[in-house]
Amino acid sequence: MKMKHLFVATTALSLSALPVLAEPQAEVLHWWTSGGEAKSVAVLQEEFAERGGTWTDMPVAGGGGDAAMTALRARVLSGNAPTAVQLKGPAIQEWYEEGVLADISSVAEAQGWADVLPAQLAEHMKCDGTWCAAPVNVHRVNWIWANKDILDQNGIEMPTTWEEFNAAAEKLQAAGVTPLAHGGQAWQDATIFETVVLGKGADFYQSALVDLDPEALGSDTMVEVFDEMRTLRGYVDDNFSGRDWNLATAMVMNGEAAFQIMGDWAKGEFLAAGKTPGEDFLCGATPGDGYLYNVDSFAMFDVGGDDDKVAGQELLAELIVGPSFQETFNLNKGSIPVRSDVSLDAFDICAQTSAEDMAADAEAGSLLPSYAHGMALRGEPAGAITDVVTAHFNSDMSSQDAVQMLTEAVANAM
Ligand code: BGC
Repeated sequence: MKMKHLFVATTALSLSALPVLAEPQAEVLHWWTSGGEAKSVAVLQEEFAERGGTWTDMPVAGGGGDAAMTALRARVLSGNAPTAVQLKGPAIQEWYEEGVLADISSVAEAQGWADVLPAQLAEHMKCDGTWCAAPVNVHRVNWIWANKDILDQNGIEMPTTWEEFNAAAEKLQAAGVTPLAHGGQAWQDATIFETVVLGKGADFYQSALVDLDPEALGSDTMVEVFDEMRTLRGYVDDNFSGRDWNLATAMVMNGEAAFQIMGDWAKGEFLAAGKTPGEDFLCGATPGDGYLYNVDSFAMFDVGGDDDKVAGQELLAELIVGPSFQETFNLNKGSIPVRSDVSLDAFDICAQTSAEDMAADAEAGSLLPSYAHGMALRGEPAGAITDVVTAHFNSDMSSQDAVQMLTEAVANAM
């Protein structure tokens, strides 16, 4: 159903005048600046303009969104919040508690979001029972991407256990190939870490990174996780420090490295470069059962009743969850539609696998929020974990010391 986004300006002076139609406006803060990301967000910009909206772009480069979130805090503190902000997971509720988010329930109800969004994912969009964010997609985080030619030339299959991954990496290293393309930024270290935790079982992931159970955090299993992180560190090239994630993806694309462990926004890069899954590159879930989800969403910030901005927010929310945008955007972005009623016929094998696995994992209780992408935890404990993960990855810290630091850091952050 089409939502109205025409509003009547009702200032005291204009009450007796003819209705004035609001002109939707939006200043949109996001961190979609890589090739595939920019192509995806352009779809929203175009649809917004087609419906008469004026879009002011506020891109803040930096994978994972850390820099964008710093920019957001500065804007809100100075009393000048952007109209719409790419915001995810518990950060939505944290901002809601600050009293700065707009209620978009009228759009959600008119469009029947409750009927088309999976219940577990819809919960992330709610604040005290109202709708406070509009979901864009479902990204799966636990993926391995591979250069198909390199694997073929070296007689390697897509690994299905970490032992197989390590064996493949050793073989590649012996052949002079960099096994793992990685960008040494804290959020990328965290991305790998959470997939290794998941490899120890969905229950372990849930206890350690969602429930923050001290026993799981301090366990021998967690020591093994850090052991594997140390092993993986040995498979990256010397220049990994500070590298952006999309440059790591380009290494796999260009045959400079065999694998990347990254969410399926990496697929957006392969696709934007004209590469085909199954022919040029391969996707495979990281070892172990379970699906780590990362749902991009937009929250609308309070604009003090400015009619044009409110109209912009309502139009954006309507477009974002609309079926046409969900299809076109996600075809570019590498993710899948969050709406359960959008056909996946136009999507590639990686997206179809993602949707099938998501359904199966939801059934099995192993559909889990990504901690590294801000879906599982509030800022403080998530930051405390990432600090330890990255400190370990970038030093010769022992696994035992890392586990000790982890339990202490999480206890202090609670
Ligand atoms: C976001 C993706 C984005 C990626 C890299 C993730 O946290 O959910 O939309 O493409 O970071 O910037």
